[in-house]
Amino acid sequence: MRSWRTLLARTTATLAAAITVASMGALAAPGAAHADASVVGGTRATLGEFPWMVRLSMGCGGALYSSTLVLTAAHCVSSTGTNTSITATLGVVDLNSTSKITRKSNYVYRAPGYTGSGKDWAFIRLASPVTGVATLPIAKTTAYDTGTFTIAGWGAATEGGAQQRYLLKATVPFVSDTTCNSSSMYNGEIIASNEICAGYTAGGTDTCQGDSGGPMFRRDSANAWVQVGIVSWGDGCARPNKPGVYTQVSYFAATIAAAATTLGG
Ligand code: ARG
Repeated sequence: MRSWRTLLARTTATLAAAITVASMGALAAPGAAHADASVVGGTRATLGEFPWMVRLSMGCGGALYSSTLVLTAAHCVSSTGTNTSITATLGVVDLNSTSKITRKSNYVYRAPGYTGSGKDWAFIRLASPVTGVATLPIAKTTAYDTGTFTIAGWGAATEGGAQQRYLLKATVPFVSDTTCNSSSMYNGEIIASNEICAGYTAGGTDTCQGDSGGPMFRRDSANAWVQVGIVSWGDGCARPNKPGVYTQVSYFAATIAAAATTLGG
């Protein structure tokens, strides 16, 4: 069951990516409807609120991990190797802003062993460093894998809806593996060790197609932002009893850090 539904979600994501590129110029003008909707059930982020948020040209999100590395989802990229085809856009909430920073990729590193289920993380290396933009540290232990999380992205604001011009944000509560894997939710489809669920039982707020690869984050004990998840999959968007499913970053933290070192930072 997991495989077909996951594949369906990912096919939609690929379509959304194509549509994004095609329609980005035709999105709503400032002040038009949708101003408060997205991520699903979100509101607009302000400039500088989440400086490390990255939009990727294949229609995914990402987080700036270092001056040259963007952490995203494995299902957003093809395979490990030289790749100069991806454009990363950051430093703005409005993707049409003339002050946006853009960088081309020069390499993609997809999680070793990724086959479409679990291990949903990847790095995109930028051809030149981004300076003066804060990075988002990853959670190195499970200490922050609970509580209330922030999600953000330029993905669809409704299930099946258009990609967004303005960065949207929302908060969602942690859902335990036991609850998320219960028969009323994902009925055993969650890989408890390396996926983390978040959302409301009643639905209404969630990441959606095009948010994939973007971070889910919260404040740590020093009040600094820390990344706990990577947008991975879900059954539709914001449906009741269908929380968003995120890569559990803490589980991969050591592997991610080692890969970053190998990639040159
Ligand atoms: N796989 C989707 C993407 O590629 C993200 C899905 C997230 N879905 C959810 N209901 N939280 O953009």
